[in-house]
Amino acid sequence: MQLRMVRILVVLMIVSNSVLAAVSVLPRPESLQVEKGSFTITAGTLIVHEEGSESARRAAEYLASALRPATGYPCDIKAAAGAPAGAIALLVQDAADDLGAEGYTLDASPDTIVIMARTEKGLFYGIQTLRQLLPAEIMGGQVAEGVKWTIPAVTIKDRPRFTWRGTLLDVGRHFFPVDDVKKHIDLLALYKMNVLHLHLTEDQGWRIEIKKYPRLTEVGSLRAESPRRGNRTEGDGTPYGPFFYTQEEIGELVAYAAARHVTIVPEIELPGHSRAALAAYPELGCTGGPYEVRTRWGVEADIYCAGREEVFAFLEDVLTEVLDLFPSEFIHIGGDEAPKKRWDACPRCRARIEAEGLHDSHELQSYFIRRVEKFLNSKGRRLIGWDEILEGGLAPNASVMSWRGTKGGIAAAQAGHDVVMSPTSHCYFDYYQGRDRAREPEAIGGYLPLKKVYAYEPVPDPEQLDPSRATHILGAQGNIWTEYIHDYAQVQYMAVPRMIALSEVVWSPREGKDYGDFVARLKAHLAHLDEAEVHYRALDPEPAVVGSWKSGEPTETWAVREWEIGRHVTGAGKIKVTFLYTGGGCRLDVRSVEIVVDGRIVAKDAHWGTTGARHEKNTYSLEIGEFPAGATITLRAQIRSDGGTDSNGEILLSKEG
Ligand code: ACM
Ligand code: ZN
Repeated sequence: MQLRMVRILVVLMIVSNSVLAAVSVLPRPESLQVEKGSFTITAGTLIVHEEGSESARRAAEYLASALRPATGYPCDIKAAAGAPAGAIALLVQDAADDLGAEGYTLDASPDTIVIMARTEKGLFYGIQTLRQLLPAEIMGGQVAEGVKWTIPAVTIKDRPRFTWRGTLLDVGRHFFPVDDVKKHIDLLALYKMNVLHLHLTEDQGWRIEIKKYPRLTEVGSLRAESPRRGNRTEGDGTPYGPFFYTQEEIGELVAYAAARHVTIVPEIELPGHSRAALAAYPELGCTGGPYEVRTRWGVEADIYCAGREEVFAFLEDVLTEVLDLFPSEFIHIGGDEAPKKRWDACPRCRARIEAEGLHDSHELQSYFIRRVEKFLNSKGRRLIGWDEILEGGLAPNASVMSWRGTKGGIAAAQAGHDVVMSPTSHCYFDYYQGRDRAREPEAIGGYLPLKKVYAYEPVPDPEQLDPSRATHILGAQGNIWTEYIHDYAQVQYMAVPRMIALSEVVWSPREGKDYGDFVARLKAHLAHLDEAEVHYRALDPEPAVVGSWKSGEPTETWAVREWEIGRHVTGAGKIKVTFLYTGGGCRLDVRSVEIVVDGRIVAKDAHWGTTGARHEKNTYSLEIGEFPAGATITLRAQIRSDGGTDSNGEILLSKEG
């Protein structure tokens, strides 16, 4: 081939690659067509907005602020009646009525880019799409020299499937400063997520200034120590705090979020997960204390006393300040994991049960929540709580966040209550995202890979939930509980890319869902995340599970075991075999690992390894040469357990390099 032709081919390949990359939009729009040609933003490109529309003007300001840092262009803004040639136009029009309150159209041609919506929010989402369509460098904070700011000509029509597209950030277990929360809000907005559920109070820390009760933060925002990394049953001996948001900082966050069309839903936990508040005001507990801010994770027995009137006065005072700070319609009151042990033993709580004609302490929790709901409703707000609030009878207007599976959510929706789905099975971003825990930072437990998040369907099957009730499913939420997440980089590692998968679950049409297509778009989009300096988890292919073990099989005596792996080995190359511990309290030792092809040993790694409470050298590297089609390929290893009875694990195989 002549050099010139090679060059043309290479150029063609680059062009087609960049076009492929360029049309990667996450979450997937309702419809997207790539047209002929492209539009290039230059130093002279004007941003014009609908004349007389304050919404369009604000969206234009936002767009300019999103384009200026990386392009270094002035991005001048002007009001106009339509879309002049060469401009990016933001139009607010009733013609976009059928797109609803959050939808938009984006038409990019060689002449103009026109984003049209009925609302500022719709324009904002169109702008997020535009950012993703531009070269990745647009995400950077510095002027990127030599980049041609081109987007392919496209016609996009888009709107969300659900109205609640959320993530929870737990700032109780670990605290994240204002600037980190702002970064998180930016990340949510980029994927058209619109709820940040801020978990502000916990056993281990109270994180919001309440003027009437200064001890909440003086005492409650500091704990003596935390569980030690790598050994959660021991303390680390290091005080943590005082960490909290002042009311001024909360105001700043709420405004920052509002400008990005994210609602911050505050959570003030009651009656449980309140030990930090009890440490500050022990008279609010059943026993009267003294209490300390909790220093271990888990469920705490000490909760607010349901028999004391002062508790309700306190909570109404706290909520009054919270309502002044957060315009959110929904106020989350927790309600989960409140053991009834103290209430059952408390004379005041028992007197309350009697006086109110209640059955038991479960109905007492229901009484508690109903009183708080009445207060919130009287202020024009709606109560939402974890699915435990169904126990003992759901408050009349309450909405439910279903976390212990979807049963609670289904029951609530069936009874006509609104529901946000957030089951541990698909939405707990504090769970491990790889099978091989030894290769992941310490996490709380569980296993939630990207593919499973993507596969989530928030609306239950018609056999489970009457289709006429499906509109009560407001959406879904991914939860970032932070017991094992120490800094914001790790929040991003746990949230991304799983949150992007969830954004597609809650935004994109149910039809046309395709994991392969999602991953292809995600791969093309990673450069944007790199430019934005997001610390995301790499898209390693998940290893294949080729076998399993449990203690007792093998025993304490070294034994040879074999597993057929032909299905997983497609050709010559290096593979990694990991002996993995998945549960129990014992151990597996490994001392020789071989690959056997048609009865002949072709590769061997004979080092000693162990997996259990400790993982040491439990991965084996083996290289397989060419082998005949149809060959029998076997993994053979010498293994022994330590004589326990309750351990189990898996054997994983992945390609190396
Ligand atoms: C929860 O995860 N305890 C709501
Ligand atoms: Zn009590």
